[in-house]
Amino acid sequence: MSTLEIKDLHVSIETEQGTKPILKGVDLTVNTGETHAIMGPNGSGKSTLASTIAGHPRYIVERGSITLDGEDVLAMTVDERARAGLFLAMQYPVEVPGVTMTNFLRSAKTALDGEAPKLRTWTKDVKSAMSQLRIEEDFASRNVNEGFSGGEKKRIEILQMELFKPRFAVLDETDSGLDVDALKVVSEGVNRAQDTGTMGTMLITHYTRILRHIKPDFVHVFVDGRIAEEGGPELADRLEEEGYDRFAATETATA
Ligand SMILES: Nc1ncnc2c1ncn2[C@@H]1O[C@H](COP(=O)(O)OP(=O)(O)O)[C@@H](O)[C@H]1O
Ligand SMILES: [Mg+2]
Repeated sequence: MSTLEIKDLHVSIETEQGTKPILKGVDLTVNTGETHAIMGPNGSGKSTLASTIAGHPRYIVERGSITLDGEDVLAMTVDERARAGLFLAMQYPVEVPGVTMTNFLRSAKTALDGEAPKLRTWTKDVKSAMSQLRIEEDFASRNVNEGFSGGEKKRIEILQMELFKPRFAVLDETDSGLDVDALKVVSEGVNRAQDTGTMGTMLITHYTRILRHIKPDFVHVFVDGRIAEEGGPELADRLEEEGYDRFAATETATA
């Protein structure tokens, strides 16, 4: 079993107006096999947390720690984090012109594992994962995310997650822009990966609807760079009914 531990995390970014604090003391522990829903209003710092875990250079850690089984994640390069088993599905996946999906998936898998996957099983794995995610076969020869629709990009993120088999997956608004059918397909992919029992998941979402398909063990509500409330799945039900209004006072008071 593995543990991803975030302690007293303070993160800021440089803007034209100066240094802007965004995360203001986040504590969060995720173990293998657990699904944590990270919820909260727009601008509360959810994507900042995801990018900081992944090692985006824009985000400056002012204080606190992120460790993976006791190893200092913040001291690792972006590559090292990926090889250590951290996976980020971005809110806005990037297009990579000139690189086909097939080449990208295979070279990424090779870089992650330190050896090339066996061609026969790999081709089979890719095909079956694509078909389960309802991704047409011709996507394999297309350039990464180039001209893909929002929903297609999200399915491609889940495809990567299923093939790369990370120890921890951070899924940032993977449900946004999905229609009902795509939401179901994407959720099934996350549940399949979770069912292997070898992954921990941080599911970042503004809306509760994906939580009808993916059952979280824990729910954390982000407000203004901090976890304002946490609980079990029942907290998501409550947010579905009440929205984030009751946190709004806190947000404006400290904004
Ligand atoms: N690159 C950036 N430049 C300026 N402000 C940023 C940048 N990235 C994030 N922020 C600000 O940080 C806050 C948190 O943003 P974000 O982490 O994207 O929130 P969320 O994902 O919860 O909507 C917001 O106020 C946002 O405007
Ligand atoms: Mg976001």
